[in-house]
Amino acid sequence: MVHTLDQIRRPIQSELRAFEQYFRDSMRSRVPLLDRITYYIVRRKGKQVRPMFVFLCARLFGPVGESSYRAAALIELLHTASLVHDDVVDNAHRRRGFFSINALWKNKIAVLVGDFLLARGMLLALENEEYELLQIMSRAVKDMSEGELLQMEKARRLDISEAVYFDIIRQKTASLIAAACAAGASSGGADAPQVALLRDFGEKIGIAFQIRDDLFDLGDDDVGKPRGIDIKEKKMTLPLIYALQQADGRMRRRIIRLVKYHHEEQQAIEEVIDFVRRSGGMEYARTLMGRYRDEAFAMLHTFPASEVRQALEALVMFVTERKK
Ligand code: IPE
Ligand code: IPE
Ligand code: MG
Ligand code: MG
Repeated sequence: MVHTLDQIRRPIQSELRAFEQYFRDSMRSRVPLLDRITYYIVRRKGKQVRPMFVFLCARLFGPVGESSYRAAALIELLHTASLVHDDVVDNAHRRRGFFSINALWKNKIAVLVGDFLLARGMLLALENEEYELLQIMSRAVKDMSEGELLQMEKARRLDISEAVYFDIIRQKTASLIAAACAAGASSGGADAPQVALLRDFGEKIGIAFQIRDDLFDLGDDDVGKPRGIDIKEKKMTLPLIYALQQADGRMRRRIIRLVKYHHEEQQAIEEVIDFVRRSGGMEYARTLMGRYRDEAFAMLHTFPASEVRQALEALVMFVTERKK
């Protein structure tokens, strides 16, 4: 069965509609340049899976209220800020099927826009004295920056193990999805152990989410952002790490040399991708991704069956089956 986002959105349609307005308003600024850029961001929106996690996790415990809307807007603001900065860091000129902010307005402006979005998000919580939300989100922001920096450190030395890869993606990606689930649950009235459970659930999904993303980089499909860019940035992801483990010493040295000294050359990138595919690196990553997805699935099954749980299950499946 294919799980489409439309199907998952159904039980939270009115919430998502109200969210759009909330999200747009939260970015308003009197600085014309900033307003033009945020207008562009709102128009080229992403999948919005994090707000969906917020609303669905809230609804596991109670009806969606003001604080769920704030949590959803805050999460999407932080996510957007992180993408705007990420494209500067990764020197990526394509995002969501179109030009990235740094491609259109250059790095200086993109850095400041990212800061603005981050600050707007934090203020959203602060202005409403939502300290638990602020705490959940601040932790995610800290984790994301650490994850990105750990990734950079490893890209320089090319000595990354599977364990370190998982540390990186747990921090840079899973932390925000974990925060979405925790904040959603908390806004729906969950108690502390329940919030912790949903955070764990979100972390597992987040890890699966990033593995899926790393597979896109080696694939053939157009997903609206550059491919092969991980190798270009000397970023070692799970499929490559596994492939290197399987290779003999000579091959390993050859591939490392390509990544180290020829990562800007298209031909070298193709050779590395080819090597990963031939070594079963993609299958291996898919297997581990499935394991995280199944663990998340099992956690959901501690809740009684309902329309909301079913939508969450479909969202979990979507994360690993998605085509963009
Ligand atoms: C992309 O996230 C960044 C990663 C953590 C891999 P999404 O795939 O959720 O991005 P959008 O918001 O839908 O564009
Ligand atoms: C994920 O990093 C984005 C953040 C956690 C900020 P990537 O660099 O792997 O994500 P994409 O592929 O550019 O979206
Ligand atoms: Mg990137
Ligand atoms: Mg990146």
